[in-house]
Amino acid sequence: MSRCDDKQQTRRLLAAAGLAVPRGVAAAGDAADRRFLEEVGEVVVKPARGEQGAGITVGVTDPGHLREAVEVARVHCPQVLLEEFVPGEDIRVIVIDHRVVAAAVRRPAAVTGTGQHTVAELIDKQSRRRAAATGGESRIPVDDHTRDTIAKAGYALDQVLPEGATIPVRRTANLHTGGTIHDVTARLHPALAEVSVEASRALAIPVVGLDLLVPDIEGPDYAVIEANERPGLANHEPQPTAERFLDLLFPRTARG
Ligand SMILES: Nc1ncnc2c1ncn2[C@@H]1O[C@H](COP(=O)(O)OP(=O)(O)O)[C@@H](O)[C@H]1O
Ligand SMILES: [Mg+2]
Repeated sequence: MSRCDDKQQTRRLLAAAGLAVPRGVAAAGDAADRRFLEEVGEVVVKPARGEQGAGITVGVTDPGHLREAVEVARVHCPQVLLEEFVPGEDIRVIVIDHRVVAAAVRRPAAVTGTGQHTVAELIDKQSRRRAAATGGESRIPVDDHTRDTIAKAGYALDQVLPEGATIPVRRTANLHTGGTIHDVTARLHPALAEVSVEASRALAIPVVGLDLLVPDIEGPDYAVIEANERPGLANHEPQPTAERFLDLLFPRTARG
């Protein structure tokens, strides 16, 4: 579990096992950070230890913003990671007892305009809907991250969004910040399933939720971004995550 807790260590172990991880370095807080940014063009800044997207800034392209993002991440953890921004879909793969049980695409919170409501009103509505659907687990915070994301889409909180226009309001796909999750287990490319099992073995962890970024869930390409040692097993309907977990705990009653 501690191997999953520290993202730097997770990266190291997965890379050593021959798995693809985004290019990354520990933030040094000096010119080395700017050189890394120049090299990769667009970075993600994240606390080495953290979860639910807290303290993460996605899509940093200028040095001033980089410095700010490192400060934001430092509030959560003194060790900060700079990673190459990897485009693509966010997928969560649940592996129990080194077998894939479920895979889901996760999407950042987004709102769609009605031509009558402001972005703030739409967020409020969507947030209530997400909270109701998840027993309060998923909500859209209105903070700097949200304001920046909306500004990048060309809007402001008090502006009316045109009917039918959809804009993202967060840049991380975490469920806790209003993200949505969609089961894709049946469509997962076999190579992605294999990679997920290899990752669970490399970390030697019996229950894990792997976060992958992929250009296409039906293709073999991927980068593993993190491993969650306490994944939400209830978010993967209709896949039998709870059943497999019980089978792991009580192998003599397992159906095999
Ligand atoms: N290298 C990256 N490139 C693009 N997006 C990323 C990258 N790393 C993280 N993200 C985005 O941020 C989210 C949270 O990052 P993650 O490493 O999973 O940390 P957390 O423990 O907070 O979930 C991801 O689900 C993804 O949407
Ligand atoms: Mg994650």
